[in-house]
Amino acid sequence: MPEPREAGSEELVLAFLAEAGDEYVSGEAISDKLGLSRAAVWKHVESLRGHGYRIDAVPARGYRLREIPDRLTPLELLPLLSTHDLGQVLHCHAELPSTNDLAKQLAEDGAAHGEVVLADRQTAGRGRRGRTWASPAGKNLYFSAVLRPESLPPQRAPELTLVASVALCHAVRQAGVDAGIKWPNDILAGGRKVCGILTEMAADPDHVQWVVLGVGVNLNAGPEDFPDELRSQATSLAMERRQPVPRALFAAAALGLLEEWLDRFDREGFAGIRDEWRVLSETLGREVRVALDGREVVGRAEDIDETGALLVRTERTLERVLSGDVEHLRPR
Ligand code: BTN
Repeated sequence: MPEPREAGSEELVLAFLAEAGDEYVSGEAISDKLGLSRAAVWKHVESLRGHGYRIDAVPARGYRLREIPDRLTPLELLPLLSTHDLGQVLHCHAELPSTNDLAKQLAEDGAAHGEVVLADRQTAGRGRRGRTWASPAGKNLYFSAVLRPESLPPQRAPELTLVASVALCHAVRQAGVDAGIKWPNDILAGGRKVCGILTEMAADPDHVQWVVLGVGVNLNAGPEDFPDELRSQATSLAMERRQPVPRALFAAAALGLLEEWLDRFDREGFAGIRDEWRVLSETLGREVRVALDGREVVGRAEDIDETGALLVRTERTLERVLSGDVEHLRPR
């Protein structure tokens, strides 16, 4: 099993080049800034090239990063991360049954807040309500973050999924795809699902031990990557914007946004998230059918309450829905 990784000097050189964008940076500037010899900088550049990075070197101008390989390893991710906790310890794997399962095991073994498990492929990716999550290799993003919310009572933990949906919806929008949230936490693009979130936790009666926030985003999947029965309901960012998505860039942006919104939740509670969730929602104001265990609620989705529950106005009453599968009945 690969060791979790934190940034070393090769990652720092890469971060420096990445930060400069299209600009050249001199070897001298890099060595001064990072306290490395010029020879060490050159060695790191050579090693990065060996890992598939395209780096231009021009005498008197310096180095310029031209292309990042489409891989999700600490080498690609760590230099792009701007987070203080989330993903600073990364457990990257080529293949796992499910990133949530490993994250849960690591959390049980004492993993710290913010550790992230990521896999290029999942062989038993799990969705909500016992469904499977299609997880082909080399195309999408599958990760699980271990959270240890210090003062969140266990009954309020479901609010974290709504926080995550706001963050992920923004990540998809930043990648140029118009997206919205289907209650509670599906991200839709063009009415089809592009991202799903699976939250699991362990708690005592009055204390959350850990929460594992599992996120799957269809980035570069094509229609052929979805099982037949899902093909009409699922999409990917690449299918929507007709251009591939650099996975490491998207992953770093998503982790950054996730941390931003989690920090806000920490400071302001769900009140600080609710209005944004409402703005991004594709469910509110729509006629919906909600499948609850053993019954169905049909009506107009009016709002979410201060705990994130969906309020549905039926012919007879206002139903407060805590969990369930929502179907939007009519297009907007
Ligand atoms: C859903 O919408 O049903 C939730 C899907 C969650 C999928 C992600 S992929 C990463 C993590 N590992 C899993 O096994 N599931 C979540």
